[in-house]
Amino acid sequence: MMSLPQSVKIVEVSPRDGLQNEQQVIAVENKVQLINDLRDAGVKHIEVTGFVSPKWVPQLADATQVATALSHDETVSYSALAPNMKGFEAAMDAGFKEVAVFTAASETFNQKNINCSIAESFERFAPILEQAKKQGIRVRGYVSCVLGCPFEGDIEAEQVAEVSEKLFTMGCYEVSLGDTIGVGTPLKAQRMFTQVAKRIPTNSLAVHFHDTYGQALANILACIQEGARIVDASVAGLGGCPYAPGASGNVSTEDVVYMLHGMGINTGIDLDKLIAAGVNISQVLNRPVKSQVANALHSK
Ligand code: HMG
Ligand code: MG
Repeated sequence: MMSLPQSVKIVEVSPRDGLQNEQQVIAVENKVQLINDLRDAGVKHIEVTGFVSPKWVPQLADATQVATALSHDETVSYSALAPNMKGFEAAMDAGFKEVAVFTAASETFNQKNINCSIAESFERFAPILEQAKKQGIRVRGYVSCVLGCPFEGDIEAEQVAEVSEKLFTMGCYEVSLGDTIGVGTPLKAQRMFTQVAKRIPTNSLAVHFHDTYGQALANILACIQEGARIVDASVAGLGGCPYAPGASGNVSTEDVVYMLHGMGINTGIDLDKLIAAGVNISQVLNRPVKSQVANALHSK
């Protein structure tokens, strides 16, 4: 077992992964308020939206408006999904310095999510990475279904490692391993992470757990013990992919931060302010906060 780190980088995905999955229309001002609340809580990496097809994900059709309304802060890195050159160009027009491309370790999920095979997704990403390099833009890469697929079931860790390595060698500075439907358990998560870590340095690997079966915190800790230092999370446990049946919320950032701080691992995030951000957006969405830590501490 590796020694525990002094700090972990948190990538907050609620404005994108969380709000992409809401049935109701959320006003731009509420989205911007969420992003500002997160920033005020000390979150330094926020995925704020996605330049995806509005026919596929109407919830993010306001990507440009959200981006335009953000107050820029050199100390905070805002990013947005870009599935193809059209999305990348829109992200550039909106002023992003970081984008994320996304593919999967499952062929069937990829077809359902981005309407192409894994190989075709790399063809789409090639010009994005080429342009990004020229313009000094950072590109993050996601691999979905790393511990299971809603259509294909079990996924081989070796397949995850191959797709991840391809993203990394194409120029993604960070690869995020997504347990899209939250089926992973700690030993499987560790095995998958170590398999990928044979090909990519651990400081370029993020873990992205959805919490469908309540395993996300345990999975995160298991991966940290194998060298993971970057954790994706979503305030109030918002999240889910509209093209992954059964995908429920991401692990809540409040729970992750509480666990890490309790272990003496720094995140730079103010837990009370983070909880307030989660309470605010949950009120807008008219739903309970999906975080045990937030619920326990907020009522105090
Ligand atoms: P397509 O229909 O195959 O695209 O969709 P196309 O190239 O054939 O174009 C069709 C139409 O879409 C055209 O418009 C294009 O202009 C337009 P029309 O001529 O019909 O009016 N179009 C676009 N519009 C805006 N922005 C764009 C864009 N591209 C084409 N970027 C496409 C292919 C990839 C666009 C579509 O499948 C798509 O947008 N998929 C996104 C699905 C999505 O966002 N899923 C959720 C995010 S992934 C996730 O949640 C997992 C993650 O969290 C990790 C994990 O948990 O595992 C990251
Ligand atoms: Mg996700």
